[in-house]
Amino acid sequence: MSDPRHIAIIMDGNGRWAKQRGLPRVAGHKAGVDALREIVRAAGDKGLEFLTLFAFSSENWSRPKSEVVELLGLLKLFIRRDLHKLHKSNVRVRIIGAREDLSGDIRGLLAEAETLTTTNSGLTLVIAFNYGARDELTRAVQKLAQQVAAGTLAPDAITPELINGALDTSSMPDPDLIIRTSGEMRLSNFLLWQAAYSEFIFAPEYWPDFKPAHLFAAMDEYRQRTRRFGGLSAEDVQDLSAQTDTVVEPEIANWRQKAVL
Ligand code: FPP
Repeated sequence: MSDPRHIAIIMDGNGRWAKQRGLPRVAGHKAGVDALREIVRAAGDKGLEFLTLFAFSSENWSRPKSEVVELLGLLKLFIRRDLHKLHKSNVRVRIIGAREDLSGDIRGLLAEAETLTTTNSGLTLVIAFNYGARDELTRAVQKLAQQVAAGTLAPDAITPELINGALDTSSMPDPDLIIRTSGEMRLSNFLLWQAAYSEFIFAPEYWPDFKPAHLFAAMDEYRQRTRRFGGLSAEDVQDLSAQTDTVVEPEIANWRQKAVL
């Protein structure tokens, strides 16, 4: 299969990485930012089009206040320190998640990062911050419902494409590959709509230990996968065609129709 265009990563295991070393959890998050930098650089070098990183979920507010403050501080520091380097590397930054709940200074930094890099044509780095898929879907439904209430949208004109366009990820391709580190195997409210046909790789490494070599290995594994999007693989279709001389055509059409459902 071809290379993935869009990889999304759930960067999990910072806390356990720190605990393993007898360090405070914040040390794990700091090491996580170092890992993030390396992965962004490697993804850009490989020519990946979109990299989405789950940096702070809408459920992370329930962590101890000190940890939340640290995570917000790390985001600010990351943008202040790395934005110009990212811009020089032709990286376009995009943020997904609910911004209204964030403080004015963070909202300003996020807007600055997006505005400065908006015309860059290299890797699009999507930072999911204060992001939760159910929250994103709720906001999208609210937007469409407002249009229906205003009489500018008919309910039966709502299509999957229209819903796509109302999401934070509008105009981005769905993730081809979702990686979660630390051995946990769940989606945790990440990109629920967009992950409909994504491939999944669960890496055993804690996020701070996830290196470019692990990313490249995941990309290699992705290339071995066969994606069918609910249909048939090219090989299966060929097998089916090979049988056409023994079966009457309408029957084949019937099979094909059933096979893609
Ligand atoms: C999960 O590890 C990770 C997070 C909740 C945050 C990920 C954040 C970073 C990599 C650093 C922040 C970067 C930016 C740019 C803001 P965990 O704490 O749940 O680990 P555990 O499951 O081992 O406890």
